[in-house]
Amino acid sequence: MSAELLDGEKVAGRMKMEVGDRVARLIASGRSVALGTILVGEDGPSERYVAMKHADCAEIGIESAHVHLGPSATQKEIIAAISTMNDDPAVASILVQLPLPEGINEEEVLLAVDPAKDADGLHPVNLGKLVMGAPGPLPCTPAGIVELLAAHKVPVEGKHVVVIGRGLTIGRPLALLLAMRRPGCNAAVTVVHTGVDDMASLVREGDVVVAAAGVAGLVTKEMIKPGAAVVGAGTSWEGKRLLSDVAEDVSDVAGWITPRIGGVGPMTRAMLLRNAVLAAERLP
Ligand code: GUN
Repeated sequence: MSAELLDGEKVAGRMKMEVGDRVARLIASGRSVALGTILVGEDGPSERYVAMKHADCAEIGIESAHVHLGPSATQKEIIAAISTMNDDPAVASILVQLPLPEGINEEEVLLAVDPAKDADGLHPVNLGKLVMGAPGPLPCTPAGIVELLAAHKVPVEGKHVVVIGRGLTIGRPLALLLAMRRPGCNAAVTVVHTGVDDMASLVREGDVVVAAAGVAGLVTKEMIKPGAAVVGAGTSWEGKRLLSDVAEDVSDVAGWITPRIGGVGPMTRAMLLRNAVLAAERLP
């Protein structure tokens, strides 16, 4: 293996310490910093992700409130749980774990979160702020990827980034963020997806490739320009084994690469903590 590892555990650890200092200041001044999470249904990976988010919070002194609704919860019940957290002054920020069970209108659920308490940066008001370049909470995985690349001094500004996938939580907001005139971004961005005819030839143009499709092994070494940075952000599961969108032998040609575990995941969680503290700091 020749590629340098993009070590998310290490970078996230540093960020957690910074966020922890801000949490301590808030608590010392008598402010509430609690994160409220809402999980619907019985999706194993989602349950594990939420449990990890709570453990991260506990580690740096952020309390968490959790509501777990059953798989048959209605749209109305989910929105009622969100409203309760919106109105609770002890809850500073809120996260609704995605995906929601089939039949639930995700857009309506995300709209119900008070944008000032949006820990995920996925409320349409906050996505709108991202489009406008106005300050606000950024979606966690895209923000985490930008920080991970910057921490490893991967050249992004002025370079060509290919984002594979156009989903709400990663691909779409990441493409917007990377194209913005801001440090660690300012890139030419191409988004490829299942509707694109010759994905491989476009991916091969990328100085940085971010795979966020959720298709195991989608990115092969033949698709990567030698020396490019490759970020595996999409995940899928084989039983309890986490699979990456990036085939293992891509590390033979890449200049930088995320490990299968400990790359983007810890960065996403660190960015959630950052958004949670930002919301708490801005509470009246
Ligand atoms: N499920 C997968 N990624 C995410 C995320 O960034 N936020 C939430 N709420 N759910 C997710």
